[in-house]
Amino acid sequence: MGERSDGFVGVFDSGLGGISVLRALVAELPGEDFRYFGDSAHAPYGEKTEAEVRELSRGIAERFLADGAKAIVIACNTATSAAAATLRAAHPDVPIVGIEPALKPAARAFPRGRILVMATEMTLHLDKYHELARAWGGECEVVPVPCPGLAARIERGDLDAPDLAKMIEDLVGGYAGTVDAVVLGCTHYPFVRALVERALGEGVAFFDGGAGTARQLRKRLSEEGLLSASGRPGRVSFASSLDTPDELALYQRFFSMPL
Ligand code: DGL
Repeated sequence: MGERSDGFVGVFDSGLGGISVLRALVAELPGEDFRYFGDSAHAPYGEKTEAEVRELSRGIAERFLADGAKAIVIACNTATSAAAATLRAAHPDVPIVGIEPALKPAARAFPRGRILVMATEMTLHLDKYHELARAWGGECEVVPVPCPGLAARIERGDLDAPDLAKMIEDLVGGYAGTVDAVVLGCTHYPFVRALVERALGEGVAFFDGGAGTARQLRKRLSEEGLLSASGRPGRVSFASSLDTPDELALYQRFFSMPL
């Protein structure tokens, strides 16, 4: 039997969005092995019920643990809001790190600013978001912007197609010239940041939770004595519930595309 610190970190999302988080995890912890699972066969989570998302998340976490994961990252704002507390209660001995809309750094940078929070309807509906807005909203004007259909559209790839630019223009174009910052509160959205910027105009600051999640994973692994001690570069692998060569090629492309 190897040391527990030799295990891998399991990272999951409803689909390929969490690859934006995986990129931050690898940048922060290049010596760790990461196994990414995208539940693309069941995406989008944001349009399911909370109970369905909780059940799908439970199944994924249990498979990771059966395969020897030493820690789990929920690289999905929606699944974190719906399932993190239940997963932590079921597996108190495993570091389980979630992601939340990066309202805290945005509000610190723009304490009296107008801040859009783009996220799924479920994320904006559940308690976690309301607690965040209460804790960090302070004197800024926080504007929640539910984006139905956007994660599902990003799942299909083809980010240069005009229909996607039009969808984003329809969602946020009405705020052009009136906002200081945008929180990308769904892990799919960093892949279309340039399109959001085009719809809102230049000079808007962007925040997402990837880097904060990566720092939190480092902290939790360190506290538990689970940081890899192997000294070799970490490995990254991909799996999907939509297990086709095309889907896995799309995951690889999102992992390495310039942003
Ligand atoms: N990427 C996910 C999130 O961060 C969910 C998108 C979806 O499946 O609706 O919220």
